[in-house]
Amino acid sequence: MGRLTRPVLSTERLRLEPLTDEHTELLVELDSDPEVMRFLLGRASTREESLAWMPRRARPEADARGIGYWVGHDAAGSFLGWWCLAVDDDDPDTAELGYRLSRAAWGHGYATEGSRALLSHAFETLALPSVWAETMVVNTGSRAVMEKLGLRHVLTEVRSWDAPLPGWEQGEVRYVIDLAGWRARYQDV
Ligand SMILES: CC(C)(COP(=O)(O)OP(=O)(O)OC[C@H]1O[C@@H](n2cnc3c(N)ncnc32)[C@H](O)[C@@H]1OP(=O)(O)O)[C@@H](O)C(=O)NCCC(=O)NCCS
Repeated sequence: MGRLTRPVLSTERLRLEPLTDEHTELLVELDSDPEVMRFLLGRASTREESLAWMPRRARPEADARGIGYWVGHDAAGSFLGWWCLAVDDDDPDTAELGYRLSRAAWGHGYATEGSRALLSHAFETLALPSVWAETMVVNTGSRAVMEKLGLRHVLTEVRSWDAPLPGWEQGEVRYVIDLAGWRARYQDV
């Protein structure tokens, strides 16, 4: 196991700590809600499916780069969900922004607030050239988060899937923000 180089990230309302095996049960519970998994699996994950994701979520090579997954809690200590800067196996100059929040946490601006902290980490601490995100065209909530963060819609693509979800025929969208875009949006200079 590599040394954890992801720092704890704090925002006004959130504490984001590196996701580790200690958080397994929280993730199993999160993924057991079919609404949470609606645009990802189209149904609740089984316990086995959630456990199978754990090794992928905690990748030593991501730790070595200061990216990976973070788990978020509010000031009262309630678990809200996870956020990530995931390894892009095709391009070390970028990372994939992602987030999955429990249903009780939706509608409070938490996805956006936590993502801003990850983007700040990616650009200001790690100096990554860019960060991207993808979702289904029909995942209105996730697209709204991307747009609110200042990511640019760069691609819509219809792909074929083994187990297509409702709305698959409208395709997937890709959004990107680069360092200059981040600075233009979040810094005065
Ligand atoms: C999508 C998700 C992350 C949104 O989280 P959230 O914390 O509710 O999002 P925020 O409160 O930061 O919302 C940001 C903006 O998106 C809008 N929004 C959020 N969910 C929305 C929805 N379902 N439909 C339309 N707009 C939505 C908000 O209104 C807000 O815009 P506003 O400030 O102009 O009102 C959350 O619903 C979730 O985790 N869903 C399940 C997992 C998932 O689909 N993850 C993304 C996979 S790519």
